[in-house]
Amino acid sequence: MEIKKICVLGAGLMGNGIAQICAQAGYEVALRDIEQRFVEGGMNTIKKNLARDVEKGKMTQAHMEAVLGRIKPTLDLKEAAVGADVVVEVVIEVMDVKKKVYAELEAVVPEHCLFFTNTSGLSITEMAAVTGRPDRFIGTHFFNPVPVMRLLEIIRGHQTSDETLKTAQEWGKKIGKEVITVKEAPAFVVNRILCTMLNEAFFVLDEGLASAEDIDKGMVLGCNHPIGPLALADLVGNETLLRVIEGLHRELGDKYRPAPILRKLVRAGNFGRKTGRGVYDYGKK
Ligand code: CAA
Repeated sequence: MEIKKICVLGAGLMGNGIAQICAQAGYEVALRDIEQRFVEGGMNTIKKNLARDVEKGKMTQAHMEAVLGRIKPTLDLKEAAVGADVVVEVVIEVMDVKKKVYAELEAVVPEHCLFFTNTSGLSITEMAAVTGRPDRFIGTHFFNPVPVMRLLEIIRGHQTSDETLKTAQEWGKKIGKEVITVKEAPAFVVNRILCTMLNEAFFVLDEGLASAEDIDKGMVLGCNHPIGPLALADLVGNETLLRVIEGLHRELGDKYRPAPILRKLVRAGNFGRKTGRGVYDYGKK
């Protein structure tokens, strides 16, 4: 199936990165969010990322303008979805909210349109079941920062067709990602391992075994990780991490219990870089 227009729902951390790389790959992109400030924030991040590439000589000014010209920001779901071959849904990690979005989408997308959900760990099959197209529904899990991280983890739902899988795999390569294909399970493959490790770093912090700085230094210098687990949690967003861990805990049992300090940070609104404060202080947002 040929993809021309992509509708990205959600202009936040992940959504704007996905819109950017799709436009860079030549697709026409509609970037939709529910408030003007979110759409503007997403477009500003894309402009900043592309301008940095121009500054470094990785991209010409003309190319940057062509990429930006392919992205249409909007608040209107119908306008974003009309004529879309693929919807990449990147809304908040709450099952009921995602299901509501899919119910609205069904009324406005063309019959052939595929639904790709970017989720950190929610069930693809459960989301697909509220649509009239579970065969044309698949999980496409991106990693933060989207323009930098090379992986796309593709998750097949219970009813995803072979054709949808093949289209998603080819699309992943076209937007410059290496693809792995995994079976559906809570948090899939990468986040099951990664988020469990990040949660463990919070337990270590809670138990006072070392300072946050030393925990991170230990994993960077001792294991060659590019960034320490607590700094990574601040990058991903502590609220997102907690949702993944809660999902693992609910479905797989006590081994995945969230660390109390992670919960506390989220209750305090200390989500990480996006709020200006998480484990570390990034200055007021
Ligand atoms: N957007 C776009 N580009 C960015 C960026 C961003 N937010 N942050 C950094 N970059 C680019 C920089 O411009 C730079 O590009 P060049 O190589 O062209 O110069 C490159 O990335 C390296 O950046 P820096 O030199 O500024 O900093 P760094 O070397 O410390 O790298 C990092 C930053 C890429 C974030 C690195 O720390 C890293 O790889 N960290 C691990 C990230 C990771 O594990 N992500 C997965 C999180 S899990 C997830 O996302 C899934 C989920 O569902 C929870």
